[in-house]
Formats: sequence, C-alpha cells, structure tokens
Amino acid sequence: MSKDDFDEFVNKLQKDIIDKELKDYNERIVELYHNPINWGQPPEEEITETHAYEGPCGDTMQFFLKIKNNKIEKANFITDGCGATVACGSQTTMLIEGRSLEFAENLKSKDIEKALNGLPEDHKHCAELAKRTLRRLIEKYKYKKN
Ligand code: FES
Repeated sequence: MSKDDFDEFVNKLQKDIIDKELKDYNERIVELYHNPINWGQPPEEEITETHAYEGPCGDTMQFFLKIKNNKIEKANFITDGCGATVACGSQTTMLIEGRSLEFAENLKSKDIEKALNGLPEDHKHCAELAKRTLRRLIEKYKYKKN
C-alpha cells in the first residue's frame, strides 16, 4: 500500500467513525469529544481543589478548580467515560469558569445538557455525573475552609 493509499484509508476510517458518532450524538458533542476544551490535570500549584467521583454506571469524572475569592478562575477535567461524558465534563468547565462558587453549586444537569444542545436519552446520566462531581468538590472545598 502506498503512503497516499494509506492516508486515504485512514481518512476514510476516521470519517466512518465520525459519521457513526453523529448518528448517536449531535455535532456539538462529537466536536467536544474529539477536541475537549479544558481537558487534563493542571500543575499542582494551579489546583485549589479537586475531586473524583465514580457514577452508578462505573464511569469516573474528576474536576480540578482554581478558586480565588469564591470565584472559579480555572476549571479542568478528566474522565474515563464515553464521548457524551467527555462532552459533559468539558461543557461544565466552560459554564463555570469565571463564575462564582454559588453559581457552580447550583448548576443543574439540565443546564449542562441544554448547553450541549441535548443528550440522547441513554446518556442523560453523563450530565448528572458531571453535576454531582462538581457539587461534591465544592462541598469538600467549603468543609476544609470552615
Ligand atoms: Fe456513564 Fe457517560 S456513560 S457517564
């Protein structure tokens, strides 16, 4: 197989994968799954609080927040979950960056889902996983502060 044939083969394979994903998820979810914004663990000095939580489906989400004066200056995440879970984690960090802890604490799974233009019925719990992880992180942060 020549290099051109191989490149064509790889491109076709990638396109087939994305076409399949677009049957299951909307474009925004697929885009965030392939290019998740705020993915990854930041350096230690940029983490004020972190929390990992395993949901009932067995997937884990972890958030890392940099908090100053009750404001979330930076939010990152990692997860071992599916495409929808990656999109939910990423969307959550985007929704809370620059916002107050109170705002983040009151974020609902519906808000995450709405920002993603909807989630398939069997993946609505992915937004719930993100919401619960975030709430537990904030509870932990507040408990340590008091
Ligand atoms: Fe379990 Fe996405 S499939 S959180």
